[in-house]
Amino acid sequence: MEHTRIKELLKSEEFGKEVIVKGWVRTFRNNQFVAINDGSSINNIQAVIDFENTPDDILRRITTGAAVRVKGILVESQGKGQRVEVKATDISIIGDSDAEKFPLQPKKHSLEFLREIAHLRFRTGTFNAIFKVRNALAFAVNKFFQERDFVYMHTPIITGSDAEGAGEMFRVTTLDLNNLPRTEQGDIDFKEDFFGKSTNLTVSGQLEGELAALAFGNIYTFGPTFRAENSNTTRHLAEFWMIEPEMAFYELEDNMQLAEDLLKYVIRYALDTCPEEIEFLRARLLEEEKSKPQADRSELDLVEKLNFVVQNDFVRLTYTEAIDILMKSKPNQKKQFKYLIEGWGADLQSEHERYLVEKHFKKPVILIDYPREIKSFYMKQNPVDAQGRQTVRAMDILFPGIGEMVGGSQREENLEKLITRMNEVGIPTEEMEWFLDTRRFGSVPHSGFGVGFERLVLFTTGMTNIRDVIPFPRTPKNAEF
Ligand code: 4AD
Ligand code: MG
Repeated sequence: MEHTRIKELLKSEEFGKEVIVKGWVRTFRNNQFVAINDGSSINNIQAVIDFENTPDDILRRITTGAAVRVKGILVESQGKGQRVEVKATDISIIGDSDAEKFPLQPKKHSLEFLREIAHLRFRTGTFNAIFKVRNALAFAVNKFFQERDFVYMHTPIITGSDAEGAGEMFRVTTLDLNNLPRTEQGDIDFKEDFFGKSTNLTVSGQLEGELAALAFGNIYTFGPTFRAENSNTTRHLAEFWMIEPEMAFYELEDNMQLAEDLLKYVIRYALDTCPEEIEFLRARLLEEEKSKPQADRSELDLVEKLNFVVQNDFVRLTYTEAIDILMKSKPNQKKQFKYLIEGWGADLQSEHERYLVEKHFKKPVILIDYPREIKSFYMKQNPVDAQGRQTVRAMDILFPGIGEMVGGSQREENLEKLITRMNEVGIPTEEMEWFLDTRRFGSVPHSGFGVGFERLVLFTTGMTNIRDVIPFPRTPKNAEF
């Protein structure tokens, strides 16, 4: 390569050396100072142009968004705000950018506006920082599991099953929607479809992950998952990435410990390897919060918050204990919750989860032993308690500002209990014989969980809308790009 990456140049001490920079113009001031960014750093390098000896038609084409090549001498900067700069001896335009039409102007744009031009938002400091942190977290996830001898398993994207039993699936079909084949009963005849059966995009790799765990011991999946839930919130996507480890011979306590270790490990890795990006995001958040009333601002800044999570144990408590706390809480007593907690059995809404983590405990919380009725069919059933309550060995990890970050459980390994439960909730066992085989042939206690990767990125970057931490978000009525 003839050019040097800007990240390297910004660290360099080799003053007087001739260098070549290639990148995109962020700003051009006084016909003299060009700020160039090549994506390697959130910071730009400044090239100083000798405008008297640069042809006018070149100067005119140095516009925001244009791609340029600058040859020059690396020097210590005279000006404030940067340590080094390039004294240009030659500048040429690689790709023009019409300043009138280029949507990114050298000023602050709102996140909402940038979402509409998501194809260009990578070229801003904020999104450079976000996606560098996302990249570091993804790498750290693999590093964590590889260091612990877990096998990375690629589970299918197209499946015939509904792993969560919640019916929130996107159908996959090649049938002609204007001319659907019918059975004699008048139903759509999926035997005519591409796979000869009805198929959908996966909501979770868990069921296939369980098959692999009962052979390899410890596995993980990390891939895209799809949910056709019509949730237009700042924490839901229709397409999101999920990390799902599954471990044979793990009970719920082991499962919780692994999840806590994983989250701390990857956040620490981001802090260690992305200090500039996280500092940039910390400052961005402080700035953004200035417009909020004091009471709504965070007590800790981003770096303090991340360090706090890495350094402190998560709180662990049962669903029953959480209901007690919520029943006695001020917002419940004063009827400030939208959904009042009337008693045991209530499903927790995000307002309740947030009360527990943000107001009551002020740290991440692992909630276990939920009522069976509000959780998935595959979770291990606890013995019925003295009050006749049936719970399952579920665990949800709740994070400040995020709510549910992790959902997992110990799995029901007993064949009869599992089949009974599937019948109760109406999951057809005949299509799941392959899954039930794990409980027929050498069934063992096993556990796993799923981390919503975008929620992890959301927390680590201090962003507030999940649409800003995935490159091209898919949400109800939006599949742009
Ligand atoms: O709690 P969930 O539905 O659990 C499962 O899918 C299990 N099969 C996981 C397992 O045990 N292997 O989803 C797991 C996590 C949630 O805690 C949340 O962080 C994230 O996935 N998640 C979403 N993230 C973004 N958008 C959505 N629509 C999400 N739905 C779930
Ligand atoms: Mg869940």
